[in-house]
Amino acid sequence: MAKKQKSTQPGTTDRRIDALLTLLAENTTIVISGAKIAKEIGVSRQVVWRWIQVLRELGVRVKGHPRTGYHIERVPDILMPQLLSHRLHGTPFARRIIHYFKADSTNSIAMQLGDEEEPHGTLVVAEEQTAGRGRAGRSWTSEKSAGITCSILLRPPIAPAQAPLLTLVAGLAARDAAAEELDVVPDIRWPNDVLIRGKKFCGILTEMRAEPDRVHFAVVGIGMNVNQSKMPAPLADIATSLRIETGKTHSRLEVLTRLLRHLDRYYNQFIEKGSAPILRRFSEVSSYFQGKRVQITTSAGRFTGVTSGLEPSGVLRVLRDDGRGVEAVISGDVGDA
Ligand code: BTN
Repeated sequence: MAKKQKSTQPGTTDRRIDALLTLLAENTTIVISGAKIAKEIGVSRQVVWRWIQVLRELGVRVKGHPRTGYHIERVPDILMPQLLSHRLHGTPFARRIIHYFKADSTNSIAMQLGDEEEPHGTLVVAEEQTAGRGRAGRSWTSEKSAGITCSILLRPPIAPAQAPLLTLVAGLAARDAAAEELDVVPDIRWPNDVLIRGKKFCGILTEMRAEPDRVHFAVVGIGMNVNQSKMPAPLADIATSLRIETGKTHSRLEVLTRLLRHLDRYYNQFIEKGSAPILRRFSEVSSYFQGKRVQITTSAGRFTGVTSGLEPSGVLRVLRDDGRGVEAVISGDVGDA
C-alpha cells in the first residue's frame, strides 16, 4: 500500500513564535534588545515587533518596545513545544511536539498523523478545542488555556485485545501527576475517569488503527481540568478542576510534564513486563477495583453489582446482583449504585 503523504497541519503554531516565547521565557530577569532577538531567531526586527504584538494579543505580558528591548516578568503558562521539549528530555515525547492555539480535536489530528507515519511519541497539544471528543460519542468541552487537552501517538507492539490497558496506563499517569498538586488522594473510576472527592477532573479517550493481531498505532487523548475556576452549570455537580479543589492556580506546563513523565514510566513497564504491574498499581489507587457497588450501563442495557477486580486484559469484572454470576465488562459506563 502506498504511504500517505506527510502534511504540515493547518493551524499549527508558527515555530518562530515558539522560539520567541522560549527566548523571552528563559530570560525573564533581563531586557533583550529587538536586534538580539531578531538575530537569535533569524528574522528581521520588524518581524520580531509583529510577533511581540501577536504574543500580547494572546495575553502574554511582554514589557518594553523596539528601542529599549523586551522582557516578560514570568513564564506564561502556554504549552509551547520548546518549553515542553526541554522538560521532557529523555522521553519519546520530547522529539515531536505539535502545538495549536485552536484545533478541532487533538485526537482527530493525532489519528491523521498516525496514518501519515508520524513517529511513536508524537504529542499534539491544543490551548483550545472546538470539537473535543469524549467516550461513547460524547463531547469534551474545556475553557481556553484553562485545562490540558493533548493526544499522544503511540506505536505499541501489542495485540488489539491489550489496547484497553493503554487507557489504564494513561489514567495512572494522570492520577499520579495530579496527586502531587493535591492534599486529597485522587481516585480512578474504571476505565478512564480520574476523580477528586467523587467528581471527575480528567478523562481519557483511546483510539487505534489495528489488524486482528496487531495494533498499527494508538492515540491516547487526555483532557484534564486544571485552572477552571468554575464548571459550566450542567457539569458542576459531577465535574471539577484542580483549581476548584485546591483554591489555587497550577502550572499546566509542570502538570503536563509530570503527566508525560509518569506516562513514559508506566508505558515502559507495560511493554517490558506486561499488564501485571499496571493492574497491581490500579488495584492500589482505584476504589473501583474491588468491592464497590456499581451500576453498569452498556449498549446492551443496565445492571448493578459489585466490582471484583480486572482481567489481565484490563476488562472489569462485576458480580451481578441478579444472580447471573460475574460479568466481564469490556466497555461501558460505571456509576455508583
Ligand atoms: C472522556 O472522559 O469521555 C474522555 C475525554 C477525552 C478528552 C480528550 S481532550 C484531548 C483529546 N482530544 C479529544 O478530542 N478528546 C481527548
